[in-house]
This record gives sequence, C-alpha cells and structure tokens, in this order.
Amino acid sequence: MTEPLAPFSAAVNGCFSQGAAAYDSNARLQRGIAARLEGLCRRRALPLPPGPRADLGAGSGLLSRALERALGGPSFLRVDQCAALLEQESLVPQQRWDLNQGLPLELRDAACLASSFALQWLEQPQEQLEHWCSCVQAGGWLLLAVPTSGSFPIWKEAALNAAVPCTALVLPEAQPLIATAEAQLELVCQQQLRFSRPNPGGLRFLQQIKAIGAQASRGPQLPAGQLRRLLRHWPGPEQAILWEVLLLIGQKR
Ligand SMILES: C[S@@+](CC[C@H](N)C(=O)[O-])C[C@H]1O[C@@H](n2cnc3c(N)ncnc32)[C@H](O)[C@@H]1O
Repeated sequence: MTEPLAPFSAAVNGCFSQGAAAYDSNARLQRGIAARLEGLCRRRALPLPPGPRADLGAGSGLLSRALERALGGPSFLRVDQCAALLEQESLVPQQRWDLNQGLPLELRDAACLASSFALQWLEQPQEQLEHWCSCVQAGGWLLLAVPTSGSFPIWKEAALNAAVPCTALVLPEAQPLIATAEAQLELVCQQQLRFSRPNPGGLRFLQQIKAIGAQASRGPQLPAGQLRRLLRHWPGPEQAILWEVLLLIGQKR
C-alpha cells in the first residue's frame, strides 16, 4: 500500500488489527457464511475459467480456504488492508491493499472475485461493487456476502429510546446492490438471509463486536453517561440480535 489510509479506513484498520489474533475463533457468523458459500459452489460445480482469483477483504482467509476446498485449482489472492489479519495465514498469496482505491491492476480481468463481510466497510459500497463486477472477465464469477441495512434493529431502537446516537456501522441496502450486480452479471443465486442470535445484553453484545475488531464507528465513541443510558434501554433476551445478510453468486455476461 502506498497511499496513506483515509481517517475512517485507518480507524477500521486499527480495530481489526487489535482483534486479529482472536478473529478466526470469534467470527462464528463469518465462518458460517463461508461454509454456506462453499456448499453452494460445490452444488453448482462453478465452471471457473483460467485467470486470477481473489478474496476481497479476506481478513484471516476464512472464505478463501472454504472456496479453495470447494473449487480446487489455484489459491485465492488474499486482498486486505489489515496486515495483522493477513499475517494469520502463511504461505498463501496475499496483497495489502486499500479497497477504497479500486482493485489492483492484476485483478482487472479476474476469473473469480469473492468477498464476505467486507464491502460494508468501504466508503462507497455500491460504486465499489460495480467496479468489482466490471473487473470480472466474461464467463467469470462474483461471489458476495454482505450484511445489509435490516441488521441490528434492537440496537437502533435502544439508541432511539435512550436518545443517544446509534454508533452501529451504517450498512448498505440490499436492493441497490442486487440491481448493481444484475446490471453486469447473470445471478444464479440471490439470498437475503436473516440470522437470529441470542441477545446477551447490550454490554456483552458490544464486547462481541469488539472481539472480532468490528467496532469502528463513523461517529465519536459514546461518552460513559450515554453508554449507560443505551444499556438501560437495551431490550431483554426475548428480543434476539438480528443479522440480515445478502448473498449473491453471479456469472459475468
Ligand atoms: C469482518 S472482516 C471479514 C473478513 C473475511 N472476509 C471473513 O469473512 O472472515 C472485514 C475485513 O474487511 C477488511 N477491510 C475493511 N476495509 C477495508 C479496505 N478499505 N480495504 C481492504 N480491506 C478492508 C478488514 O481489514 C477485514 O479483514
């Protein structure tokens, strides 16, 4: 990486660096999504043309390893801005790269671009997705998983009721992403998944987010008084934590 990171990317990088060593064991949902994409690839026996394969925002390589098991053939290039996460794997192709700058030149005629739980961290998710699709060669594949705007309703509600800012990352809406992908790809799989996770209480939930390094926020951290108010308004265990995840697999026309 040559350019210095923009302030938000630098904050994201700092948080993921702190959580890097424990990421693999704590990122249970991401592991589940990687396994789901692995299963879908096996079932569909995706006919991958020759050419570069990459995992964009690869982190510790959960998705790369799952896809390599399913697809065989050459390794995926792990592309990520976070050195500490890339270092969790050795002897695999890696490139440290800020995806807000678009894709590295060598990926501009890719056979397969995959990405899970990374697009939402970029400054302009929809524009970057359009660029990713344009970089896939005709007959090549894009595989995407991204959490979307319907996630975390109880966090938003608790912040509203407590009259404090919601510091959750603003997640992209699913429909514009689907439309962007459909403009260039034949979608063979389009799923809008909803995962319910037990609600362990506000403090424990925020600790879980921090444990995978995903706590970076575009707003300032809540002062202690506001955090206490948020936690007082956090609903009980009868209301689950909800993740909404968009999953797309498409072939370039
Ligand atoms: C939640 S992790 C997902 C990692 C992996 N794809 C997985 O499913 O486990 C998000 C990843 O996106 C990366 N990321 C965030 N912003 C980025 C950027 N601007 N450029 C490159 N990578 C970025 C982070 O460093 C982190 O590895």
